[in-house]
Amino acid sequence: MDLTGNNTILITGGGSGIGRGLAEAFHKTGNKVIIAGRRKNVLEAVVAANSGMSYEILDVQESSKLKSFAAKMTAKYPSLNVLVNMAGIMQTENLAGSPDPSVIDGTIATNLTAPLQLTAALLQHLKQQTKATVMNVTSGLAFTPLALTPTYCATKAAIHSWSISLRYQLRNTSVEVLELTPPYVQTELTGQRQANDPKAMPLSDYIAEVLEIISSQPEVKEILVKNVYPLRFAGDFNSEKFYSFFETFNAAMAGH
Ligand SMILES: NC(=O)c1ccc[n+]([C@@H]2O[C@H](COP(=O)([O-])OP(=O)(O)OC[C@H]3O[C@@H](n4cnc5c(N)ncnc54)[C@H](OP(=O)(O)O)[C@@H]3O)[C@@H](O)[C@H]2O)c1
Repeated sequence: MDLTGNNTILITGGGSGIGRGLAEAFHKTGNKVIIAGRRKNVLEAVVAANSGMSYEILDVQESSKLKSFAAKMTAKYPSLNVLVNMAGIMQTENLAGSPDPSVIDGTIATNLTAPLQLTAALLQHLKQQTKATVMNVTSGLAFTPLALTPTYCATKAAIHSWSISLRYQLRNTSVEVLELTPPYVQTELTGQRQANDPKAMPLSDYIAEVLEIISSQPEVKEILVKNVYPLRFAGDFNSEKFYSFFETFNAAMAGH
């Protein structure tokens, strides 16, 4: 992805956290940025602070509306050439107790169904652009699950797999597929506590390292900051090395 180019970038979940951080960074480097999400006041505040940025109200859980949303976006922004599938939710579940079916459905709808459907709806348009990018957002937890959030981790593992297939199928087109794999970052994904947790990576540090990777490694497929290496490279799911790290990691996070 050429950051300095004249991209038109749609970022779902661009009103807060990592999405907002990337939106503002892309905006600063001269790109047209459109952020989308459910909270109008949050989106308005970001746009007010970044002259020229635009916003769209979107609930990605309403999967039947994603196709018409995509059509509206391409009509309104014909130069749209980058989709960042950032919107996500992360909730704990007690599978040994009484799991909440609505957490399963909501997490899959937001983190898995929505990126697949929105990408599918925009692909014809993206393929017509000289250069285009789909950036899917996974997590270090796609590779080492945090057992407290099983559906979340499963959706992120699925997006990793799907991104590989998508990249392969699009290999002869103008569309590149990037995977952004954050470590634990200071945002409000799981609430205010995470935003202030000293164990989480400061958001500005994370955004700066991501931009450095994108600009210095034009052929990168997975955007991995150093903090995510332990989770990303814990090992094969069947290996002893993996299970040893998995136990240590989950014990540490349980007392967290
Ligand atoms: N922070 C971390 O430690 C971390 C680690 C690994 C991966 N990630 C991933 O990074 C992405 C961004 O998360 P974040 O940490 O920046 O947390 P965040 O600030 O809570 O961002 C999540 C964004 O998703 C949007 N969203 C949620 N449900 C939505 C829906 N139904 N429709 C439209 N938008 C929706 C939210 O906006 P509205 O509420 O206004 O809709 C919000 O702006 C997520 O995919 C997350 O899984 C984060």
